[in-house]
Amino acid sequence: EKGGYDWFMRKEIYEQPRAVADTLLGRYDENSRLVLDEIRISENELRSIDKIVIIACGTAFYAGMVAKYAIEHWTRIPCEVELASEFRYRDPIVGPTTLVVAISQSGETADTLMAIRHAQEQKARVLAVCNTNGSTIPREADAVIYTHAGPEIGVASTKGFLTQLVACYLLGLYLAQVRGTKFGDEIAATMAELQAMPAAITEVLEAIEPVLDLAGEFADAPSVLFLGRHVGYPVALEGALKLKELAYIHAEGFAAGELKHGPIALLEEALPVFAVVPPKGRDQLHAKVLSNLQEVRARGARTIVLAEHDDTDVVPYADVLIRLPRVSTLLQPLVATVPLQVFACELATRKGHDVDQPRNLAKSVTVE
Ligand code: BG6
Repeated sequence: EKGGYDWFMRKEIYEQPRAVADTLLGRYDENSRLVLDEIRISENELRSIDKIVIIACGTAFYAGMVAKYAIEHWTRIPCEVELASEFRYRDPIVGPTTLVVAISQSGETADTLMAIRHAQEQKARVLAVCNTNGSTIPREADAVIYTHAGPEIGVASTKGFLTQLVACYLLGLYLAQVRGTKFGDEIAATMAELQAMPAAITEVLEAIEPVLDLAGEFADAPSVLFLGRHVGYPVALEGALKLKELAYIHAEGFAAGELKHGPIALLEEALPVFAVVPPKGRDQLHAKVLSNLQEVRARGARTIVLAEHDDTDVVPYADVLIRLPRVSTLLQPLVATVPLQVFACELATRKGHDVDQPRNLAKSVTVE
């Protein structure tokens, strides 16, 4: 059942290293080739794709946002992400050379299903990223990558999300392999990093204690903000969504660069602000997020900073520091999301809410 945990959600959070390992299982062969047999779209067809449109709802939509960054970077195929509920109502431009990727844990979400039917009417090829074998969306799609996370019972998605990310990374690398946009050794390096992710997630979970304390500290906060850039932006959105869903607290995620264009007006004394700090790289993102944090602190808000374990630059900007293992930027959501899931679960528990069955929510919404 709950395997000794108080909630299915907590059990599923702790299952994530195993779930991610299962998503990866059997998808990289001894010849260093990605094998996605279940993609029943021929390599020739995949080479003719000139646009990718990712459609999803809720948490799956945020997985899609991360996927866009990775897929465009690795394949150079233009990639859009759209909320399934918006997609068909705006007469989207899709056709036979469009690959539509529908991400859905349950495979039954009506908004996503209607969107793929619309795409198929326009002759687009549809690939589903799904956790539930034999559900409607993968049955109607041309192809499917199953995430193999095992049943997810908690209404708020956790292992569903991380395994969707992994499936999308695999798809991106597979497209790069088929289209030759990345060399075999580059793919091998990223695959090795993905294979190391279960251990990295375990590391995060083993050091989770400070996050539990944090939930006690902020139990009465009326509002919580989350900032991130690049793939840290969808992580911020997901952190905020978890808090809304479970703790019924007003929470918002922002692209950190947008802070100065509006949200900065919300900053006030003692407001908790989470920030996902990207690894230090060749670009300036790291420094830019630090300068955002400076703005936040100057207004008396409290900063909870998620950063690499040896990132000493962040120390002066952090009221609370949550350390993450060193991973490359594109894969950072796999480790950065975990403390935010635990924070929301713990805060909701302390408030006495039913974490597995939050009010007004359903695990899969089968009406539009
Ligand atoms: C919502 C659930 O209604 O559906 C969310 O409450 C979920 O947690 C979303 O992310 C999408 O669900 P699915 O099954 O299509 O991934």
